[in-house]
Amino acid sequence: MARGRFITFEGGEGAGKSTQIRRLAERLAGSGVAVAVTREPGGSARAERIREALLSGRVKEHGPLAEAALFAAARADHVERLIAPALRTGSWVLCDRFLDSSRVYQGTLARVPEATLAALEAAAVGPTRPDLTLVLDLAAETGLARAAARRAEGGAAADRFEAEGLLYHTAIREAFLAIARREPERCRVVDGGGAPAEIEARIWAEVEPLLPVRRRARDAG
Ligand code: TYD
Repeated sequence: MARGRFITFEGGEGAGKSTQIRRLAERLAGSGVAVAVTREPGGSARAERIREALLSGRVKEHGPLAEAALFAAARADHVERLIAPALRTGSWVLCDRFLDSSRVYQGTLARVPEATLAALEAAAVGPTRPDLTLVLDLAAETGLARAAARRAEGGAAADRFEAEGLLYHTAIREAFLAIARREPERCRVVDGGGAPAEIEARIWAEVEPLLPVRRRARDAG
């Protein structure tokens, strides 16, 4: 049984990651691919508990290293319990945020040293690294406006990450783009502007070449 493909989605707030993951999952399923959808922080029972602590802001007072360590601890459980087993059975895994979010938020922004993050990465994921990372790219203003609209609909408060300002979100965008430039074999920057169906088509153009040839033929026919 061939190992499944591991695809991660990255980008700033309001980049449309969750909508697009859902759409890609449906499309892959339609092509006969078994697919598991998950997210970080979280994705496994233990990691979801750590997620609560992280997004509530309770960990923040302990500093960036504590946050980085907890994101890594959550990721280790997620990889061990969900991602690696799914890939081994041949299922594809689509994950909303992964390693690159730690590099950007804990590394570039909170200034945890690169060597520390690299060690945490290795400990958390071992060889389970993404085959493809889609960076959904959007102007920070547009992303924040989308996130605010979503929140207004749901009546929820801004979480601790969304509460930061525009400069911060611009820095996030730049940091993801810099990762994509450094690792062009793994990363693809996808324009996150326009209608969901347009973004979906851009994503499909990146993912379809990963399908086994016979499945692509089935799609075409
Ligand atoms: P979430 O509510 O899932 O937001 P989004 O819709 O933007 O994905 O919140 C996840 C937040 O956690 C997000 O602001 C980024 C942050 N984060 C990190 O700081 N480091 C990480 O390793 C991960 C996975 C997420």
